[in-house]
Amino acid sequence: SSGHCRYSYEEYKETADWLLARTEQRPKVAIICGSGLGSLAELLSDKIVLPYQDIPRFPTSTVKGHAGRLVFGKLKGRECVCMQGRFHLYEGYDIHTVTYPIRVFFLLGVETLIVTNAVGGLNGSFKVADIMLIKDHINMPGFAGQNPLCGHNDDRFGLRFPCMSDAYDRELRDLAKEIAKEQGCDSFLQEGVYCMLAGPTYETIAECRVLQTLGADAVGMSTVPEVVVARHCGLRVLGLSLITNMVVTNYDSKEKANHTEVLEITTLRTKDLQKFISNLITKIP
Ligand code: 6GU
Repeated sequence: SSGHCRYSYEEYKETADWLLARTEQRPKVAIICGSGLGSLAELLSDKIVLPYQDIPRFPTSTVKGHAGRLVFGKLKGRECVCMQGRFHLYEGYDIHTVTYPIRVFFLLGVETLIVTNAVGGLNGSFKVADIMLIKDHINMPGFAGQNPLCGHNDDRFGLRFPCMSDAYDRELRDLAKEIAKEQGCDSFLQEGVYCMLAGPTYETIAECRVLQTLGADAVGMSTVPEVVVARHCGLRVLGLSLITNMVVTNYDSKEKANHTEVLEITTLRTKDLQKFISNLITKIP
């Protein structure tokens, strides 16, 4: 995971060119479907489905609730490309591998990235099944030297020292709030700060308290590396977190975080999220 195990421009390009030869679609929007949210891709028409293992140089996916394929198609007439299944640090992937697809999207001509994920709620005013618009993040692995931009900087992708204070596009967030209102989702729409930990363990009580103190509203095990790489190459980003459980901060609590519960809640909100994202996509500038 140090600067050595990274990919050359030519490798990303080889993957992108292979994909461009397999479809005439030229999506401007890419969507990463988080844990249990892979069915977001089912809305697409004129689908072209490409399992990760068939795509040259693409990593392959292993977690339950993650299918492991790239789907090109149209959402309300707009071309987009969906990742059904993402790559996580906790699977043992190198951080450059976790973010590999993002630079491929950039080379495909994608301009906007929509990221989704399942999170634990840290903010006491949130409820299970709320949707949180990500307004900022805390890159905890980055604090410890696990930043996907560590290593040689290729100027064809972006700057050596990219700005992150505008990572989550204001205009897209405003649009998302408008759509939530129109759709009657505003009663469960929240906005807040996403904190990434590497996982795979869920947090201890003491850790949850630390994260609350730091100003995090939700905690998850993904997304931040992808967003960092997307911002580096100039993609606009919209992030949506589904609160699948509230974290435990009380030593008397009998609650225990578990992956089954996480997947159950994602199923509950899939329809709302599908509708939300398809309405959003038609309005992305
Ligand atoms: Cl409680 N923690 C983390 N790190 N990720 C989660 C989660 C909790 N709930 C869903 N994803």
